[in-house]
Amino acid sequence: MPQASTSALGTTADFRFHCISCGHLSASAGQDFRCADCSDLLEITYPSWKVSPPHAQTLKSTWSQRRLSHSGNDLSGVWRFRELLPTLSDQEHIVTLREGNTPLYELPRCARTTGVPRLFAKHQGMNPTGSFKDTGMTVAATFARRAGFQWVACASTGNTSASMAAYAARGGLRSLVLVPEGKISWSKLSQSLDYGAVTCQLRTDFDGCLCLLQELVKRAPVYQLNSINPFRLEGQKTVALELLEQLDWQVPDHIVVPGGNLGNSSAIGKALLEMRDLGLISRLPKLSVIQAEGANALVRTIRERAGKTLVSMQPETRATAIRIGNPASWKKAVHVLEATGGACEQVTELEIAQAKAEIGAEGIGCEPASAVTLAGLKKLLKQGFVKSDETVILVLTGNLLKDPDFTIDFHRGDMFKEAKDDTGALKALLHPPIVLDATLDAVIKTLEQSP
Ligand code: F0G
Repeated sequence: MPQASTSALGTTADFRFHCISCGHLSASAGQDFRCADCSDLLEITYPSWKVSPPHAQTLKSTWSQRRLSHSGNDLSGVWRFRELLPTLSDQEHIVTLREGNTPLYELPRCARTTGVPRLFAKHQGMNPTGSFKDTGMTVAATFARRAGFQWVACASTGNTSASMAAYAARGGLRSLVLVPEGKISWSKLSQSLDYGAVTCQLRTDFDGCLCLLQELVKRAPVYQLNSINPFRLEGQKTVALELLEQLDWQVPDHIVVPGGNLGNSSAIGKALLEMRDLGLISRLPKLSVIQAEGANALVRTIRERAGKTLVSMQPETRATAIRIGNPASWKKAVHVLEATGGACEQVTELEIAQAKAEIGAEGIGCEPASAVTLAGLKKLLKQGFVKSDETVILVLTGNLLKDPDFTIDFHRGDMFKEAKDDTGALKALLHPPIVLDATLDAVIKTLEQSP
């Protein structure tokens, strides 16, 4: 394997790596993306903004004008916002699949059932590989290539690996995928196979894969593309910029996101704080994070330890994308929750499945991990944390087609055979496939019997 110099990582003048614990600032980062002094995570900061901040109105009109451009970088829903990203002198080297540009949908039926009339879904599952990971991967893969690496690698519950493999292929890089054996859906795994990754199914869970990767990057010239890599989070910030632009810069009251390794919530929170500081928005929405009850490390960290030390755990949930017990970015997530005044909640497997079917019934659909947002919103409404006259955005992180087994098991009624369903609400959501003789009578009878 050819060697690449780690000192070549991110030395551009306009940004610095900032340690989230000791505050150490540096112009470059080691391949583990940890502080050389205290080993905590790094984030990217822009010291020049303190001296001469970009002008908010000029930014808004530049971004809006780029919508009319035909250049590949302007057509990317990430690089269109490049003034708030680590910049490149050689922009022709950007690795892009025209990510971002995802729709903001109204959810009229869910609005009626939850009692929140202004309810929207920002659908990140409409990205090129079917999840929000693409918005971060375009930036991190670009910087991997710029640093001269030939190999990129990630640990994944499926979506990161699919995304990384696609961007690596696009950028002429080799990719190494580490996924937990038997714990991710075939539709995600098949993507990394097709995009040419060396795909290893390790006999461990996601946390075990990530741990191994962190050791690997110290020994081999492999560039790490997990969300520990702060370039990923810079790209993932753009969902918040695009969302606010879609809302004509009118700030919603709540943004609700799923929480797994907690990179995404951290990125969205960072974007909100930067937008506020640069005068792009006048106030902060509350950013809330929802986890599955069986993978609730952040919920427990906040409830049991006031967000000071991590409660790690053995995760268990059918929402496999967020089946994570030792989230790497927990400190960043605690910070943005505190800074925006958001909540952290957990939801059961049944609540996730019901919410997923309700989103599906809107003709949109999402993967189970994304549906925790609607399930969590229902809880936050009950608690009075969200009020019915407030505007709420659910960030749907992955596409329905990412996990067909979950959807099929649910609709066949195989998933919750023992569940109490006194009101029939659960049964009303099920749409099982029907096997019939190929006769007109059989089909007409089925039509007549359908509610
Ligand atoms: N939703 C989906 C669809 C995901 O794939 C993930 C994470 C999350 C939510 C949670 O985001 O980790 O930033 O808090 N998927 C990872 C992966 C970890 O490997 O694809 P997070």
